[in-house]
Amino acid sequence: MDFTVETATDAVLDSFRETKDQRLRQVMESLTRHLHGFVRDIEPTMEEWEAAIGFLTAVGQTCDDTRQEFVLLSDVLGVSMLVETLNGAESTVLGPFHMTVSPHRELGESIDLLGTGRPCVVSGRVTSADGTPLPDAELDVWQCTEDGFYEVQQPDVQPPGNGRGLFRTDDEGRFWFGGVVPSHYPIPTDGPVGSLLRATGRHPYRPAHVHFIARADGHQPVTTHAFVAGSPYIDSDAVFAVKRGLITDLTESHDERDAERFGVRAPFTHAAFDIVLATAPEATP
Ligand code: BEZ
Ligand code: FE
Repeated sequence: MDFTVETATDAVLDSFRETKDQRLRQVMESLTRHLHGFVRDIEPTMEEWEAAIGFLTAVGQTCDDTRQEFVLLSDVLGVSMLVETLNGAESTVLGPFHMTVSPHRELGESIDLLGTGRPCVVSGRVTSADGTPLPDAELDVWQCTEDGFYEVQQPDVQPPGNGRGLFRTDDEGRFWFGGVVPSHYPIPTDGPVGSLLRATGRHPYRPAHVHFIARADGHQPVTTHAFVAGSPYIDSDAVFAVKRGLITDLTESHDERDAERFGVRAPFTHAAFDIVLATAPEATP
């Protein structure tokens, strides 16, 4: 049969009929339908199609051991968050700045090794969905400085491990640590994804946040953020990760007992952020 605009989609769908893996067949058929639908809708010129291939080539060529421009593209197109959300996960995007192992720290220790930013105590509890506290849960934390840079972006300015920590919750599932008030900051814009944002008039900023990965036996790990209430860009995160339940007030605490418990002097800036972990499917009776 001649390949025509009318027969194109069926011809390609038919080419996958021998696929043994049924999931792969379903994926390739759906991809074919949607991609052909997109091309019929856009009707690209040859130059436009070459530009599209050139863009994807540049995205691939920008990737290396520490940079993943395809993930960034998926982030700014909202696909990373859509996949998380479709999977029912409470997780949010991981981001590109979790590329080293965080140093083990004791509860109460500060992850800020610079001492130049406005101190902020972060405290909370890790619990099961039914509210049971989870002792000995692992909490991997990372944040940028008050200037909006992660330690991996400034190896000549920030010591290794600045803004990072690996904590374990106490007997009551609690955690607390010192840090600095984080800043909003731009995602990397020196690659093709940055060009795409500029060409479409989109800003590259993320609202101020602290990242967490929480893990506990018998539970599904969660990758999440505490977003600073009132931060610039809180309503227009470049990677669409803000959820109302993750927005956290920074309060000025005058509570002397809390100050003593957290090892700081009142008044101090405080963010309270609890993390809930769903039971792992294999652990469900
Ligand atoms: C981040 O918050 O570190 C981040 C997440 C997604 C893309 C870029 C940065
Ligand atoms: Fe971040």
